[in-house]
Amino acid sequence: MGERLGGRSALVTGAGRGIGKAVALALARVGANVLVCDLGVAMDGTGSDQGPADDTVSECRKLGVKAAAYYADVSDFKATEQMVKACVSNFGRIDILCNIAGILRPKMIFNMSEEDWDRVQAVHLKGTWNLCRHACVAMRQQRYGRIVNCTSEAYAGTVGHTNYAAAKGGIVSLTYAIAREMGRYGVTCNAFAPRARTRLSVGDDQDQGLQKRMEAGLISEERLQGMEETRREGADPEHFAPFVAYLASDAAADVNGCVFVASRATIGVWNHPTIMRKFTRDWEIEEPWNIAELEKRVPAELLVDYVNPAPAKD
Ligand SMILES: NC(=O)c1ccc[n+]([C@@H]2O[C@H](COP(=O)([O-])OP(=O)(O)OC[C@H]3O[C@@H](n4cnc5c(N)ncnc54)[C@H](O)[C@@H]3O)[C@@H](O)[C@H]2O)c1
Repeated sequence: MGERLGGRSALVTGAGRGIGKAVALALARVGANVLVCDLGVAMDGTGSDQGPADDTVSECRKLGVKAAAYYADVSDFKATEQMVKACVSNFGRIDILCNIAGILRPKMIFNMSEEDWDRVQAVHLKGTWNLCRHACVAMRQQRYGRIVNCTSEAYAGTVGHTNYAAAKGGIVSLTYAIAREMGRYGVTCNAFAPRARTRLSVGDDQDQGLQKRMEAGLISEERLQGMEETRREGADPEHFAPFVAYLASDAAADVNGCVFVASRATIGVWNHPTIMRKFTRDWEIEEPWNIAELEKRVPAELLVDYVNPAPAKD
């Protein structure tokens, strides 16, 4: 692979474990210096531990690059500004930003607490925005940057995770918007939805949740296939982490505003949402849409082949 990212500097959040760690090492393997940012929290975001970030730093250094640890909370606006500054002061620049830190607080919406909602938004959506916000100042000045955000297939609809699905959907929209704002400055912004065996995806709680959703018929065939790929023995994130290094490289200079799926077995690209079908009218001369007309035209002209993902049950 040589030194494709030789001389580049990366800030990776969530780099102490799982996918973030695999990405930090994949970047280091092709020559990037890495600021390893991780608070070392439990799956639900509680607690803190410097050990995971320290371990990743020593593994990066063994690959011959510079690496340093940063133990702050991505949801803290001021702390993330310092994180970006630490990348610049340690390595001279911030060329690559990978937002991978994440937590889970699953519950059905009717049981979810306000705190479970707020905390998941704070870590995923605000955390991603925080880092992008501060990094874009430096990236705009240097007219170069590669931002890779971590979303999830849950963004297209899931069960038991309204907080997470909404945050990951927000990250997709944020990615589309940053790509359009920053492209002119030589900064790309893409997202990937991983499928990997980590503590977030495999465990007794996750097994039970999956079982319940399958029994209720609430998981689409495609989503189920993705979840099976995520949980398969050997679905470790190091197999697809080089894809993130590719997005961070010069070869991907014109890849901007894309959302990918990445696993050991699959690399895919999502389509950008478009209006599939529509009917229009001359609003200058016509009356407001009327309900009787909509009752006929919506099913006949718009919802052709449509299937309700969760029809009412007795
Ligand atoms: N594992 C999968 O299949 C899968 C699927 C879809 C999306 N994801 C996403 O991938 C990302 C990584 O997940 P993972 O599976 O590697 O989980 P993980 O729990 O192994 O790693 C997440 C890391 O993020 C860190 N972190 C959490 N909150 C933080 C905060 N506020 N500040 C700083 N660091 C924090 C944790 O300490 C942990 O080391 C997450 O954003 C997750 O939503 C994972």
